[in-house]
Amino acid sequence: MNDKTLLQTPPLSMYIHIPWCVRKCPYCDFNSHEAGKALDESAYIAAIMADLEQDHENHTINTIQSIFFGGGTPSLFSAEAIGDIITGVAGHIPLAADIEITLEANPGTLEHGKFSDYRSAGVNRLSIGIQSFENDKLQKLGRIHDRNQAIKAIECAHRAGFDNINLDLMFGLPGQSPTDAIADVNLACDLEPTHISHYQLTIEPNTFFHKHTPVLPDLDAIWDMQQQCHDRLHQHGYAHYEVSAFAKADRQCRHNLHYWSFGDYIGIGAGAHGKSTQVDRHAVQRRWKHRQPEAYINHALQGNACSGSHELDQSEIIFEFLLNALRLRHGFGFELFEQRTGVDRARLLDACRSIDDDLLVISETALCTTQRGFDFLNDVLEKFLNAVAPGR
Ligand SMILES: C[S@@+](CC[C@H](N)C(=O)[O-])C[C@H]1O[C@@H](n2cnc3c(N)ncnc32)[C@H](O)[C@@H]1O
Ligand code: SF4
Repeated sequence: MNDKTLLQTPPLSMYIHIPWCVRKCPYCDFNSHEAGKALDESAYIAAIMADLEQDHENHTINTIQSIFFGGGTPSLFSAEAIGDIITGVAGHIPLAADIEITLEANPGTLEHGKFSDYRSAGVNRLSIGIQSFENDKLQKLGRIHDRNQAIKAIECAHRAGFDNINLDLMFGLPGQSPTDAIADVNLACDLEPTHISHYQLTIEPNTFFHKHTPVLPDLDAIWDMQQQCHDRLHQHGYAHYEVSAFAKADRQCRHNLHYWSFGDYIGIGAGAHGKSTQVDRHAVQRRWKHRQPEAYINHALQGNACSGSHELDQSEIIFEFLLNALRLRHGFGFELFEQRTGVDRARLLDACRSIDDDLLVISETALCTTQRGFDFLNDVLEKFLNAVAPGR
């Protein structure tokens, strides 16, 4: 069998970006803009529907497995608008019968009624941006909500019947001790979400925190809080299945699993990225949309939502696959590697020779990191990068 026969069309998902927030958080480098005056939902819906029409011919028509409304703050949009978008998408591409539809929601933008309305609109998974339950930490992060609103939002989500809820928490916050971080994790677990994403605060270029960096806990304290929080999550029954993700049994985020297993996705909305595999051309392409909301709306309505694209060369395909799939604690099978990259496993096994024995576990059929490799994933990836694309 030659390499060209290996590549297969992956399953398809959809990411929809909502680029507005009430206020820009000082640590955030996502494509998010202060909403200011009332949002023009209908102009944005018209633009993303035009975007979808322009984009979906780049993808092999396929049933959509998951939709993720990310932001920004998608919960600034009314349930009616979210419902219209879901219906509009379904009019273009069939949705899987068991589709997962996630909406990112900020406490502080969620009044009571909205939760059940989102459910009626078709959303079946909520991802709530808690970050911390401590008021002083929330203030330092510039969040618009407080501890009570955070707790209330989670309770309301349960009450509205959501049985699939993620909470985002951050650690390594200004003024945070390991005890504080553990208290956040304990309270999060007590509120019984099915999934917890636990991110270390990173200082990103082009953010307020980059210019005015607050005093952060030292690296030893951060390592300590991370290990103790992970132990606590484990004790509460959340399996650590990806670098920053913890889930109860069968509650892993299907949409993110799709990214991590190098699936294809249509990205619509301002600044959204997409990935498509074109088996007939033996090519993997990335495409992205205009970033600024106004420019995006104008371009999309004129038939030109896409602002750029890039066709990956073979070493980029291999490296990007690894960048995603090695984030998973259980790694990946060689068959999946071949189907998604179109590259024979021999090339991968060759690259593995330059990685230290204590970082990878290689079986007949699959590859994953050791605990040490998982803890130092960036080192593993750097070695792979040197092996598959020397000089990059
Ligand atoms: C797309 S963001 C936004 C979700 C939502 N707007 C919110 O802020 O609650 C998803 C998550 O990324 C995490 N995040 C954002 N910026 C981060 C940073 N600089 N360092 C670590 N985590 C970050 C936060 O936990 C956030 O909830
Ligand atoms: S609410 Fe979320 S997306 Fe908006 S600025 Fe804050 S972190 Fe970024």
